[in-house]
Amino acid sequence: MTINGASELYGIIGDPVSHSLSPAMHNAAFAELGLNKVYVPLPTKNVKDALIGLKALGFKGVSVTIPHKQEVIPHLDSIDPVAKKIGAVNTLLFKDNCIYGANTDWLGANRALEEKTKLRGKKVLLLGAGGSARALGFGLLEAGAEVCIANRTADKGKLLADLLQCSYTALPNLENSNADILINTTSVGMTPNTDATPFPQEGLKHFSVVMDIVYAPQKTRLLREAEEKGCQIINGLAMLLFQGAAQFELWTGHQAPIDVMRQHLLAGLAK
Ligand code: ATR
Repeated sequence: MTINGASELYGIIGDPVSHSLSPAMHNAAFAELGLNKVYVPLPTKNVKDALIGLKALGFKGVSVTIPHKQEVIPHLDSIDPVAKKIGAVNTLLFKDNCIYGANTDWLGANRALEEKTKLRGKKVLLLGAGGSARALGFGLLEAGAEVCIANRTADKGKLLADLLQCSYTALPNLENSNADILINTTSVGMTPNTDATPFPQEGLKHFSVVMDIVYAPQKTRLLREAEEKGCQIINGLAMLLFQGAAQFELWTGHQAPIDVMRQHLLAGLAK
């Protein structure tokens, strides 16, 4: 990649951002399409000041990560309606001196799922009630799926179910779930606790598709056991990849080079 006076600027704001795989993924995609654009990590403590600076410097697009996905919203000029419902923004587009915010986490999850199954009319059991569950939950409803929440802390789970206007199931009933798709949005099974799983293996045989948003390890115990039970599996890397692809497409108007982006994500993870 050659950076010159005409290179357009992109980046990621968050705290920390040094671990982010997004710079490798986006720079590889820009290079693949021969676009004179560069994507840099931008460690950020103060969102308001950062946005003024990014605008002044002529940035074209920015990813937003933890802890700024909610905090960024009051500073936007416009927001995508689904991102507004979710209450979190992970993508900014700077255009005509205005900042537009979107959320591609749910788009990434839906696209990863739609590679294996249609979503309209499908029943989805969503494990967890944090920010990820909220994003995926609204996204699944957008796609016409029926959602049921299960969570360790029942009060939090019921609160999210009320917000999504969907059902809640208590954890002991999970094995009897009649859903088609199971999605883990909790951190259970993530490195270093790779022996942990959020769902008993016996119950997995009911699902046709099992997805885990955890991407380290790439194949969690949940996914390994789901595969043994004959389910189709989707790992967290697929969601990460497709949320990045949706950002790339919003910023450039070009179709994202998925294979190149996947290769660079995998290379980044292997480091
Ligand atoms: P995120 O924004 O990534 O969704 P979060 O908002 O911290 O993260 O939410 C984490 C979710 O994982 C919560 O639903 C949490 O359950 P509680 O509401 O009971 O805290 C769930 N979670 C985290 N660790 C868990 C564990 N060991 N067992 C079960 N659920 C867990």
